[in-house]
Amino acid sequence: MGLLADRLRAVDPSTVALDNDYYEHLGERWWEPAGPMSGLHAMNPARLSYIDRVLTRVLGDAAPRARVIDVGCGGGILSESLAARGHAVIGFDVAEGALQVARRHAARASVRVEYRRGSAYALPLSSAAVDVVIAADVLEHLHDLPRSLAEFARVLRPGGVFVFDTIHRTLRSWLVAIVLAERVLGVVPPATHAWRMFITPDELAEAARRAGLLVQETRGLSPAGGLVAAVRSYIERGTPGEFTLTGDRSVGYIGHAVRTAGGPP
Ligand SMILES: C[S@@+](CC[C@H](N)C(=O)[O-])C[C@H]1O[C@@H](n2cnc3c(N)ncnc32)[C@H](O)[C@@H]1O
Repeated sequence: MGLLADRLRAVDPSTVALDNDYYEHLGERWWEPAGPMSGLHAMNPARLSYIDRVLTRVLGDAAPRARVIDVGCGGGILSESLAARGHAVIGFDVAEGALQVARRHAARASVRVEYRRGSAYALPLSSAAVDVVIAADVLEHLHDLPRSLAEFARVLRPGGVFVFDTIHRTLRSWLVAIVLAERVLGVVPPATHAWRMFITPDELAEAARRAGLLVQETRGLSPAGGLVAAVRSYIERGTPGEFTLTGDRSVGYIGHAVRTAGGPP
């Protein structure tokens, strides 16, 4: 527990206060730019341009036709923007309430995305079925990280890409994501995140390697104007303002891995 926590093994859900049920009941608030998901909205443009660049670099000419799954898609903030770019996207989530919001929003926006109930631990797909797996702001909600990574590797074709963004387990991430966001500003309710569930980039690289996913890079994903400006923006406008890629991975980070050809080493 605590500082000696590690994420290379499954975490007993009874030992962490983490409310994953929260996402089931958010309703239309998923899509309020200055609502409880303001952080996801603020990160979305930076995440999208990162994904664009990575898919072009790794998949080349095949990038526009890539079969993409967005695991833990929630209300569809990222899935919908990926589909709007022309990708064939399936969004999976365990929260049926979130999927209903996502379906309604995509219909109103006239964007084609398929939303299906499915868990990161057992996706209803055959092996090697997709080119890209995305887990955006999801890994820190999964008690059994190795099992989810094995499942992502199973459904990815060899040479396929796994893109993730998540939260580092540092003193700074505790101050920013737990104390500041949950307890001081009340951006989201307490227990939306658990510090114990945050993941160091080294742990993620090692857990992914064991599953047959080789991490190629990780970059910081942080408020473009710095933390103080983000807090001021949140207090004045209910949104932290845009995020950008940085060299500072001490709180949020984004990265990608490639599925090895021969399965787990
Ligand atoms: C912070 S939200 C991220 C939503 C979306 N990926 C985004 O970035 O806009 C986390 C999502 O993970 C989902 N989730 C939690 N556990 C899951 C699991 N085992 N399998 C699939 N989704 C899960 C939650 O229901 C929630 O919608």
